[in-house]
Amino acid sequence: MRIGIAFDLRDDYANAGYDEEDIVEFDSIETIEAIEAALLSLGHKTERIGSALTLAQRLQNGDRWDLVYNSAEGMHGFGREALAPTLLDSYGVPYAFSDPLTLTITLHKATAKHVVRDCGIPTPDFAVVETPGDVERIALPYPLFIKPIAEGTSKGISAASKVHDPEELRKGCERLLARHKQPVLVEVYLPGREFTVGILGTGKQARVLGIMEIMVRDGPEPEIYSYQNKKNFDDRVTVRLVDDAAGAEATRLALAAWKHLGCRDAGRIDIRCDHAGTAHFLEANPLPGMHPRDSDLPLLARMKGMSYQGLIEQIILSASTRHAFQSGQRNPL
Ligand SMILES: Nc1ncnc2c1ncn2[C@@H]1O[C@H](COP(=O)(O)OP(=O)(O)OP(=O)(O)O)[C@@H](O)[C@H]1O
Ligand SMILES: [Mg+2]
Repeated sequence: MRIGIAFDLRDDYANAGYDEEDIVEFDSIETIEAIEAALLSLGHKTERIGSALTLAQRLQNGDRWDLVYNSAEGMHGFGREALAPTLLDSYGVPYAFSDPLTLTITLHKATAKHVVRDCGIPTPDFAVVETPGDVERIALPYPLFIKPIAEGTSKGISAASKVHDPEELRKGCERLLARHKQPVLVEVYLPGREFTVGILGTGKQARVLGIMEIMVRDGPEPEIYSYQNKKNFDDRVTVRLVDDAAGAEATRLALAAWKHLGCRDAGRIDIRCDHAGTAHFLEANPLPGMHPRDSDLPLLARMKGMSYQGLIEQIILSASTRHAFQSGQRNPL
């Protein structure tokens, strides 16, 4: 197949003056090179497209691909991850990973929690703070955990995310509102074990690739898989494959959440346990990081004996079973 790769490149944004934290969710050039090398070794032809805005221009100019590998996260707004798949749907071009609805719901963590809670999946009780004044009406039990409502890669998550009283909550929310310019998700703090569950496939074909427990060593930011702990992964974090009862429960929950949220092809669901050991849904990652060495899904695949190329192959196989909504090549405008 002729496969286009849609992505936001960190270097492009760094050159445009964005700071490190703004662009941490985007792909490094090593990631794009690794995806491309895997696709080529699987016998496909590849073309680097770039961001959703470039994709829009190219579609408008009449360019088409047999499939687009979509890794474009976008920069602004709650629809930022949905932009590339929305365009591809509109032009009838098939693509890998989830559709615009799923990517919008899962980016907005409170909405994802409403959906999974509606399906009977446990998730910590929560509130949304849009203005500093909203903090007054929060009546959740401390400690609480605060994070930007629509970020990934632990942006905005540090030791200060765990808050113990109304004063810390107020100060923390004010800080996050000012820094990240979006509402703050306030959740009940879960003190138990943490797992990330790697999933391949879509709907009835969805299956668990593996479950990895994340253990943060004692250090400057204990207990939390924070931005700094991810950055200093080798020194601060230990991971292991899990096959005990807690892992089995986390797996069951993750697979149910994956299906209810409509996630496709590959990704991860993050799970954490409460004081009684009950597993809770934290968030879904339907556009998983794919750095061949550093990202959790390729790491999980490696621990399960699946190569990076094998992982990309599974993603393309899963995506190839879908047909574009419109199969014709007419310009829709
Ligand atoms: N309610 C909570 N209680 C305890 N710890 C939490 C809670 N919510 C998040 N955390 C901690 O913060 C980490 C990051 O949170 P979350 O997964 O929501 O952020 P993210 O930036 O979307 O992550 P990713 O890198 O997977 O995209 C979790 O892995 C967990 O260690
Ligand atoms: Mg996470």
